[in-house]
Amino acid sequence: MEKIAVTINGRICEGIRDQSVLSLAMENGIYIPALCYHPEVASSGGSCRVCLVEAHQGGSMRIVTSCNYPVREGLEIKTDTELVKKIRKGILELLMARVPDSDVIREMAAKDGITETRFFKDEEADSRGKCIACSVCTLVCEEVVGVCAISMLNRSREKSPGTPYHKASNACIGCGACAYACPTGAISMVDTGDKRIIWDKEFRMVKCSVCGAPYIPEAQVDWIVKTTGKDRSFFDKCPSHR
Ligand code: SF4
Ligand code: FES
Repeated sequence: MEKIAVTINGRICEGIRDQSVLSLAMENGIYIPALCYHPEVASSGGSCRVCLVEAHQGGSMRIVTSCNYPVREGLEIKTDTELVKKIRKGILELLMARVPDSDVIREMAAKDGITETRFFKDEEADSRGKCIACSVCTLVCEEVVGVCAISMLNRSREKSPGTPYHKASNACIGCGACAYACPTGAISMVDTGDKRIIWDKEFRMVKCSVCGAPYIPEAQVDWIVKTTGKDRSFFDKCPSHR
């Protein structure tokens, strides 16, 4: 793999060709706000715009989204200039108006000293909940889990993830990967006793034979056994007691 030296905020960081600027910054402990990027999903990123940075190369400067901008030799990145902060302020304020219920966005904005938005609350905000329509949940379901139980429904401001016709999906295995991956905590997943409810479907959970804790949906075990050939008895114990 070709090693590439990139300067981020004056520090030389070594990445590999085509790695994103955001992932290189994360590896080096440099904070860049990000919402719609997921490290396991190659096609994620590019929609929320909060990760923008200044990219300097060959005497010119561009504002780019760091989650999908590849590192190149000689690239110099600045994450916190006055220009970056000014543009990011507008983006965060728009997100606050669009998704006023999101603690994640409010806390992210507060790190930049932003506590209020100049924009009116979006008309669709109540029905949207905390969702920013970034598609990370659907991409994780399809590309990481391999199930395709949910997809992005509707268009433009009404775009949101859901099961086909908003009915309980036969494809869903209740794994919760979508809920864990969602950057704003927009997906409801309720675990009560040995039951889990997600996307309006109830799942029975397998209990660990050692500690008795319910820890994985039976439907997820069925899926893993079917797709990988793993022995079902492997799931008798939770990860802490294997
Ligand atoms: S539910 Fe979460 S992951 Fe899915 S589109 Fe909305 S914000 Fe993105
Ligand atoms: S994290 Fe880069 S555009 Fe959302």
